[in-house]
Amino acid sequence: MAARKIIIDTDPGQDDAVAILLALASPEEIEVLGITAVAGNVPLALTARNARIVCELAGRPDVPVFAGCDRPMRRAPVTAEHVHGPTGLNGPVLPDPVMPLRDMHGVDFIIDTLRREAPGTVTLCPLGPLSNIATAFARAPDIIGRVGGIVLMGGAYFEVGNITPAAEFNIHADPDAAEIVFGSGADLTVMPLDVTHKALVSKARNDAFRALGTPVGLAVAEMTDFFERHDKEKYGSDGAPLHDPCVTAYLIRPDLFSGRFINVEIETRSELTLGMTVADWWGVTDRAPNAMFMGDIDADGFFALLTERLARL
Ligand code: BDR
Ligand code: CA
Repeated sequence: MAARKIIIDTDPGQDDAVAILLALASPEEIEVLGITAVAGNVPLALTARNARIVCELAGRPDVPVFAGCDRPMRRAPVTAEHVHGPTGLNGPVLPDPVMPLRDMHGVDFIIDTLRREAPGTVTLCPLGPLSNIATAFARAPDIIGRVGGIVLMGGAYFEVGNITPAAEFNIHADPDAAEIVFGSGADLTVMPLDVTHKALVSKARNDAFRALGTPVGLAVAEMTDFFERHDKEKYGSDGAPLHDPCVTAYLIRPDLFSGRFINVEIETRSELTLGMTVADWWGVTDRAPNAMFMGDIDADGFFALLTERLARL
């Protein structure tokens, strides 16, 4: 089968970086058409820089990287330096990127690509706030029917929230954008905290990255070490959750994940629960299902895949 064409929409972020590395290490299954940066974990100038650092780390300066939206659609920016560090990619010492940003807005790249490629052949992989995707949908509604699928990291049901008691970061940071994407009718697969909080980088899993003995293995070990400090203290768990690589792993091994096709609505009005994903996991409403909402992961299988693929870079 031909590799699936994807656009990675991202706010790197150490876990975004690992998700990108996994995609670039998997050309049989994944063809990365481009990477669009969005404001999220850190401001846009840094996420656009970090995306290029990661491409160069992977030896892929040819991958086109675009800067997209520098803020949420209607609200003030929310960032997460307390998790990811002041640059968003703290941990390893990596060189400044040499490859340039492409001279096109990320939203225009998304629109042009979906109009150019055959309908149903491009999958969008959002790993940050949904500002770029929703802006593209709002500006060019004709592209929505051409999207092959959206596989995103965001939201939570059983795990509820990580940036507020009620909401997960990516959805909370731009709930208006999330409302547009979840209401778009596009084929949607969601990796919520319910899944990613089971993908924990234990010491043994971190050691396995380091033992690869390559610049990529070392950088991934140092990245996951970095945000582990914060998350271990926060959750009291054995290692930090590796959120965003669940998206790219799903493209390679969907059998590692299981979930339910359910209705998911986004809270945009309540200040207290802003950005909550109101997921009808138990089927207690008549609202039409709009998302494959994942609930479980084979974590050992996931880390085995990740380590095996990172070894190729
Ligand atoms: C999500 O928020 C970011 O901090 C991570 O990169 C991930 O995309 C987890 O809530
Ligand atoms: Ca992210």
